[in-house]
Amino acid sequence: MRIVRTIEHLRQLLREPRRKGQKIGFVPTMGYLHEGHLSLIRRAVKECSVCVVSIYVNPKQFGVREDLSRYPRDIKHDATMIEKENVDILFIPSDNVIYPNGYLTYIDVEKISDLLCGKYRPGHFRGVATIVAKLLNIVLPDVMYLGQKDAQQAVILKQMALDLNFSVCVHVLPTVREKDGLAASSRNVYLSKDQRAQAPVLYRALKSAANHIKAGERRASYLNGLISRMIRQYSDGNIQYVACVDAGTLKPLKTLKGQVLIALSVLFGKIRLIDNVIVSIKNQGKF
Ligand code: PAF
Repeated sequence: MRIVRTIEHLRQLLREPRRKGQKIGFVPTMGYLHEGHLSLIRRAVKECSVCVVSIYVNPKQFGVREDLSRYPRDIKHDATMIEKENVDILFIPSDNVIYPNGYLTYIDVEKISDLLCGKYRPGHFRGVATIVAKLLNIVLPDVMYLGQKDAQQAVILKQMALDLNFSVCVHVLPTVREKDGLAASSRNVYLSKDQRAQAPVLYRALKSAANHIKAGERRASYLNGLISRMIRQYSDGNIQYVACVDAGTLKPLKTLKGQVLIALSVLFGKIRLIDNVIVSIKNQGKF
């Protein structure tokens, strides 16, 4: 595996595979890798001739009250994990490489960036869209791999790729979960023992809502209430939102139809956990 830190070096390494028409897969990450990242990396390695992984903790997607310095980091461990997966190139740029002095350009994917998590994290998706646009321009991959856990991020980045004519396919892979259902996340390490024991209620509540839909329930307000009650009953988590939205457009739904994303964000102390499930509703019937 080649570890590269500059854009020039990365471009030079990719020149030959690109000339040969080899498929380049790309997994953008902020490091502190877990099984969720590894599932994306494994898929990229399997489907592409060349796999590029980036590790960059992007300051532009952290709000003023969000502690960038506390974001977990362990580059050595990450590099060892990635090497075992047969990744070809690990790109670890510094802040100077990505945002040199005088940097002025940002990408705003309007409207959908202000919904759900966007309401509680102003500027977050602007930072995400900006860094991912830059990384796509640097790597020029054929396929970019993202996780379904960050459902809103995936919808926003697909929209950005479409609107700005990035020539990349975006593949969104299923959420990887711990044995008890908690979605894999770099933030899980910060949960206290009690919080960690309570956190699986998020997925239990989402599954319970999915079961109600299966039994015929179509009212978003009922399902949001059901999920919220379960979370309040079985945890000390502070709910930011629970919402049933259209999975493609993120538009809020009153009555469920089509592909429905049931998404939530809950604070355990200062730690924000997000999770979601997608449920397909076929005409009148059940999913
Ligand atoms: O999901 C993440 O880890 C980040 O938001 C991403 C896509 C790597 C951009 O910094």
